[in-house]
Formats: sequence, C-alpha cells, structure tokens
Amino acid sequence: MDSSLIYLDNAATSWPKPPEVVQAMASFIAESGGNPGRSGHRLSLAAGRVVYQAREELADFFGLDDPLRLVFTANVTEAINLALYGLLRSGDHVIASSMEHNAVMRPLRHLQREGVHLSFAPCGMDGHVSLAHVEKLLKTQTRLVVVNHASNVTGTIQPIAEIGALCREHNTLFLVDAAQTAGVLPINIEELQIDLLAFTGHKGLLGPTGTGGLLLGERVPFEEMKLLVRGGTGSRSEYEEQPEFLPDRFESGTPNSIGLAGLLAGLQFIKSHALDALREQETSQLARLIIGLSNLPNVRLFGPRDPSRQVPVVSFTLDGMRVSDIGFRLDEEYGILCRPGLQCSPAAHRTLGTFPHGTVRLSPGPFTKDREIESVLEAVERLSAELL
Ligand SMILES: Cc1ncc(COP(=O)(O)O)c(C=O)c1O
Repeated sequence: MDSSLIYLDNAATSWPKPPEVVQAMASFIAESGGNPGRSGHRLSLAAGRVVYQAREELADFFGLDDPLRLVFTANVTEAINLALYGLLRSGDHVIASSMEHNAVMRPLRHLQREGVHLSFAPCGMDGHVSLAHVEKLLKTQTRLVVVNHASNVTGTIQPIAEIGALCREHNTLFLVDAAQTAGVLPINIEELQIDLLAFTGHKGLLGPTGTGGLLLGERVPFEEMKLLVRGGTGSRSEYEEQPEFLPDRFESGTPNSIGLAGLLAGLQFIKSHALDALREQETSQLARLIIGLSNLPNVRLFGPRDPSRQVPVVSFTLDGMRVSDIGFRLDEEYGILCRPGLQCSPAAHRTLGTFPHGTVRLSPGPFTKDREIESVLEAVERLSAELL
C-alpha cells in the first residue's frame, strides 16, 4: 500500500480494507474452497457455512428476522434491478426522488418504455426530499416508492422512516438504495418500515467488490417476482424448473463465496468497532471539511453542509477551474484520490444545477486520518489561490 496516497473516494469503494478482510479471503481460498451447497463433502460444507454465516449476520445487522429472505447479488445495482424488474409491470406507477443514482434511473427509464409510469419527487438544493412531495405524488396505482438512503453526490440523508410510514399507510412497497449507508448508518428494516433493502458489500461494509444483496421484507410477494437469472442452485437437482423457495429462487449459479467470506469479515470489523464510534470519527472529519472548504474563496459547496444530516460525502466546485482538472491535479500533484464528474448521478446534478460538468467529490472513510483532511484543505486552498 502506498502510504503517501490520501484516499478520499470511499463513496466509490472503500479502501483500504481491514486486514481481517484480506485474511478471511486468503484463508477461505486456502482452507474452505469447495463449492457451497453443492457437493456435500467437507470443503463444500465449510464453504456453505461461511456463506450461511454471512447471510445470518447480515440479516441480523439489518433487523431481518428470516435470513433466507436475504438474497445475495453481485452488487447493489443487481439488487435494485432484481427488485424493479421483479415487481413492476406495465401500468404500475413508481415514485423516485430527483437525487437517484443511475442504478435506479436506468432500469426505471427502461421500464418506462415498457409501460411503467414514473414520478419524481423534487429535492431541494441540499438534496433533501420532502415527505409532502412524495405524499402528493402517491396514487392508487403506486406500486413502489424508491429512494436512496443517502445521496452519493451530496451525502444527504433522506427521511427514510417517514417515507416508510407513508408507504405503509398507502399500502405501497418501499425500496431503499442503501449503497451509501449500509455499514455507515444503523439500518433496521422493521423499524424504518422498509420492504426491500438493496445494499452493496464493497463500500461502507468494507467487503470486496462483487458482493451485495437484496432483503425482502415480509410484505414482499416474492413468489410473484420475475427472475433475472435461472439455473443450478445445488437444491432440487431432480427438477428442471427453478425452485420457488428462498433464497434459491433468486440465487442461481455458484455464489461469490470468497467475496462473501471477505464481506463477513468486513461486517464483523464494523460490529467490533461499533457503528456509532466510526460515525463519530467520520462526522468530525466531515465537519472539518465542510468548515475548511466553506472558508475558501471561489469554492462552492453542495449539500446540507451539516454533518448530522449527511454521510461522509462532500461535493464542491471551484469557480474558474474544471472539475476534471481539479481531480487530475489533486491526484498528480498531491496524491489525493477523489471523484470528479457526475458520479453516475445525472439526475442529482440536474437537481443541484451542476449538470453536465458535475462536482469534485471527497469521501472519507474509517481509515482516513485527521491530518489527511488538513492536507486536502491545504491542497484545495492552493488551487483556489491560483484563481484569485
Ligand atoms: C446511491 C448509489 N446507488 C447505487 C450505486 C451502485 O453501486 P454498485 O456499483 O456497487 O452496484 C452507488 C455507487 O456508486 C451509489 O452511490
């Protein structure tokens, strides 16, 4: 690992990973490398146990009683696709916010061409969606409301509990894209009244890429959901039809068991360090970034500018310098790694008025040091001084 690098791109993927994650993946491949749920020999059973433990601990972490209702996917994008294509039919109505990532927008735009009706609840300049706007858009045909728990552009935390309660009142399903919050904020799907929770393993949960999942709450009629993939599950091998039971209905083909071993270790790392303690550290660094950037000339800061209302994601622009140049120079001249541009979220940038160029996004993580935040502020100050 190059220790001179300052990695502030945890919203894209967290890095570095805890050593425990690296170790768990190496041990898995060396010691339990059979195909889980397939052959029945000791290495297959050992692998199956790791996958089941990951399912059980993740279900428990998100407040889901039945671990079998957690379906593993390759990432949150696949989980969202499974939910949207699984549930929506021509004539259904869907409400989303104007801050959604393309993981939601692109399937929705495609479904729109197939007869699904869309409405977007407008968000404010702080990225926040108001409950009143969502409520106004609800109709009898509204099958689903889908919202990200926190924006990957501004970090804005959405009022998930309130939207969940509203959806229950109107008998509408509620899908949450927890890409930026799983492993960062506490999520209990029962308490928040979330029906479908889509998460990715490689960001806040500190696992490897290629891991994620969809939680199906009790109200979700999974038997009616269309499948994205069919194939071997290691169960009911005598039948040529897909098993109907969970999770096999939605999990065909050999799972990413090595990745799930790493994801389990990432989750255990978070649990042993306590979500609250990690959040406290990230919140104080976020506060420093917000104050430091706000004080610089030519800097425009987007989002709530309030660490209690956002996850550790900050977006800014510098008047007079292209965001791509800022990103390039931070990397080349200072070893600071961030993400300039649209961050796969054109809708969010249209909301903020930063389309089509986007912003520079800084996203600290659990391993970010206070002194690194200071270095970033000094670097942006130098860039900003060039424009005076
Ligand atoms: C809000 C949001 N949704 C979806 C995604 C897609 O995540 P993945 O690439 O892991 O599927 C991201 C990641 O950038 C995100 O921030």
